[in-house]
Amino acid sequence: MMKKQLEESVAYLQSKGFDQPEIGIVLGTGLGKMIDEIRDPIEAHYNHIPFFPLATVEFHAGKLVYGSIEGKKVVMMQGRFHLYEGYDLLDITYPIRVMHQLGIKKLFISNAAGAINLNFKKGDMMLLEDHINLQGGSPLAFKNVAAFGERFADMSEPYDVPMRLKLEEIALKHGISLKKGVYASVVGPQLETKAEYRMLKIIGADAVGMSTVPEVIVANHLGLPIVAVSVLTDECDPDNLSPVDIAEIIAIAEKTEPKMVQLFRELIKHL
Ligand code: 6GU
Repeated sequence: MMKKQLEESVAYLQSKGFDQPEIGIVLGTGLGKMIDEIRDPIEAHYNHIPFFPLATVEFHAGKLVYGSIEGKKVVMMQGRFHLYEGYDLLDITYPIRVMHQLGIKKLFISNAAGAINLNFKKGDMMLLEDHINLQGGSPLAFKNVAAFGERFADMSEPYDVPMRLKLEEIALKHGISLKKGVYASVVGPQLETKAEYRMLKIIGADAVGMSTVPEVIVANHLGLPIVAVSVLTDECDPDNLSPVDIAEIIAIAEKTEPKMVQLFRELIKHL
């Protein structure tokens, strides 16, 4: 990781008009339509941003979009990088460093996840209170990390408490159901076995997905307050497990998306 590369990425975006965004937003699988909420959008395709991870074929839609929502300047990532696509943990978290360098003060993250807690149902949303990193590595495990901050980053409260409370208040006020729990991140891309679902429940996970944790680790390292919400796309009951249908997972995320957009929009308004 080199500071010079980050500076070039940022200089390119600033030259396109990405001027001092206040909030960064990462949109999860099936949750990319929030882009349409942006006023006066400026787009930068990942493949055009110097030193951005090189996108794969399925990634043609990947872009950063800058503009305003509720009068606040935001930068959004439509499409994120995953370990299961062959990227490494530094690639995956590079955009977080870029958005931080652009000036964001808060980070919102959404994702699609399976429900391990069987009190939760498909189509529910879950506010992340904590996480378990099962991706077998850290985005901070590189040689010159000390040039970027404290190597031994504190993770005692990775998700910002004031933003969590505000989002809960918003959900209550608007009659939107918002569960709370622990998100476990796995590499994927295969879905989990019954034995793995049993393990995830035993170790304290309420939801499982293939993203978010690397970004959250880096954002904590940067001192960036985070709020993260999962859309629960399937119910992971090891004693009654039907084969996972990826098309259905995406369909459920898309169906739930308007509620996610409403939560994020209200949170932006109240920051
Ligand atoms: Cl990793 N597992 C399951 N069961 N459902 C998911 C998921 C994982 N990611 C999104 N939905």
